[in-house]
Amino acid sequence: CGIIGILGNKAVTPLLMDALKRLEYRGYDSAGVATLLNGRIDRRRAEGKIVNLEGVIDEQPLGGTVGIGHTRWATHGRPTESNAHPHANTEVAVVHNGIIENFRALRKELEAAGHSFETETDTEVVVHLVTDYLNSQKSPEEAVAATLKRLHGAFALAIIFAGRHDLMIGARRGSPLALGYGDGELYLGSDSLALAPLTDRICFLEEGDWVVLHKDEAKIYDQEDRPVDRPVTRTVMSGAMIGKGSYRHFMQKEIFEQPVVIGDTLQSYVDPLSRRVTLPEMPFDFAQIPRLTASACGTAYYAGLIGKYWFEQMARLPMDIDIASEFRYREAPLPENGAALFISQSGETIDTLSALRYTRQEKQHILSIVNQPESAIARESDVALQTLAGPEIGVASTKAFTTQLVVLACLALAAGRARGSLSSEREAELTSALIEVPAQASYFLEREAQLIDIANEMADASDILYMGRGSMYPLALEGALKFKEISYLHAEGYAAGELKHGAMALIDEHVPIVVCAPSGPLFDKTAGNIQEVIARGGRVVLISDSQGIEAIGEGVTHAVEVPEVSPFVAPILYALPLQLLAYHTASIKGTDVDQPRNLAKSVTVE
Ligand code: G6P
Repeated sequence: CGIIGILGNKAVTPLLMDALKRLEYRGYDSAGVATLLNGRIDRRRAEGKIVNLEGVIDEQPLGGTVGIGHTRWATHGRPTESNAHPHANTEVAVVHNGIIENFRALRKELEAAGHSFETETDTEVVVHLVTDYLNSQKSPEEAVAATLKRLHGAFALAIIFAGRHDLMIGARRGSPLALGYGDGELYLGSDSLALAPLTDRICFLEEGDWVVLHKDEAKIYDQEDRPVDRPVTRTVMSGAMIGKGSYRHFMQKEIFEQPVVIGDTLQSYVDPLSRRVTLPEMPFDFAQIPRLTASACGTAYYAGLIGKYWFEQMARLPMDIDIASEFRYREAPLPENGAALFISQSGETIDTLSALRYTRQEKQHILSIVNQPESAIARESDVALQTLAGPEIGVASTKAFTTQLVVLACLALAAGRARGSLSSEREAELTSALIEVPAQASYFLEREAQLIDIANEMADASDILYMGRGSMYPLALEGALKFKEISYLHAEGYAAGELKHGAMALIDEHVPIVVCAPSGPLFDKTAGNIQEVIARGGRVVLISDSQGIEAIGEGVTHAVEVPEVSPFVAPILYALPLQLLAYHTASIKGTDVDQPRNLAKSVTVE
């Protein structure tokens, strides 16, 4: 979901709509805006995409200089117009991200007190609670402060009040909210992208903060209602960075940005002269920790799973990795002096953040890999290593994934050095392999066309399997995820050696199987599994280097050639053909590639 609030001095609706478009990438299924005109709250909402909302506004324009807007990703209540935000009555209008966990109890209490509800949403209780307090003679500030104390869960809110053109109130607990300073105007946004064209002076509210905006000043309070100062930073985010350029979709542009952003990320963590990894000062010594416990969600989880192969092989450091939503409730015992690792593009995924807080309670050292340095996960870590992927707009993660892999690879090398399991020659050799990735990636991307033909065939299949061995196994899982997310076709990733224990029953000429098998120590084993598939009539799309393709010989349906690389860096490079395959299949099918149905970019609900 996305939030924008503007306490301004010019026509606000076009600005709200522009900001909502910038928030589209976060994924949503309805949208709406509310403004104040001559003291009255008025709103327009629509199911589906922003263009629908634009249509509604074209028919019934919305005036005013103060307003709030929202893109909603349905949690409580279907994505209908009436469940869309802002929620409002004649007194207040509210937009909300996150979930108010005790909304049922609050709703009962408010209904008993005579409030009648119009929607199925948790958000509507905020409207009624604030109104209730206003009716008992509290000021808007007092009413919001009292309301916040009644709410459980994770949320960000922006609220406007009838008759108050000089007032807007925002609050953050669990979900991010930024305050933007303009020229005689103030803004609220769920991320800095929403605020990018409005201002570059931004203050990120901290956990539990709430803020009262009055045209030329903003007063921030902490959760105990004490006035606090929070630093204002200048963001480097500019409106231009988030254009599509000459690409059809953001996802395609982001795939093609990978040589550059992988290079940028490497530059921060590798010294090309000494061919050694250089990390910022760590809060612990890799040689002293008994285990690394990692958690993440979605694509970031698969990056972590690849990292596990690296940490265990090269640093001989045991690593556990789990899906954050499972880890946080599993009550896993954690070792004394252990370290925990969190991987997240947004740095705001609530499951991952909650897992982090659990490890904090268990006294682990906390390390994170994030793309957003101002995010909650970054702030709550002992050290946050940044991926320099730049803004990733496509919901399906691409460049964030490969840059996460780069940072994980560097960390594993540093851990190997610290633990004495990696000689300096070996470190130099593996670092050199990493340094070559950007050039190999751009060489491969020039050969995009070969994947379009294969994508044409894939678009007709109803099930697709992906398989790989070693670090290519988690990559197969990520390839299948990418495919599912944007093509809406069923895909599943398998460990090459595991296929014969079940999924082999699915193989026939209708089920293409994509195999990632770089030449190297594990190649022959995977080649054996490929032959088993071919023998059963399966259609194999082999992704390998020239040596591997030659070794397999006839029998595969398609062979995609990738430059020959060290098996260590292969997962980074082999991610590219999998991304392109998913991307082209989805474009052929005509799906909404950048904002696939039902998905959101940054999930701040459990
Ligand atoms: C959402 C996105 C995925 C992403 C996951 C984790 O589900 O749709 O693409 O991998 O969240 O996001 P994070 O920001 O924590 O990396």
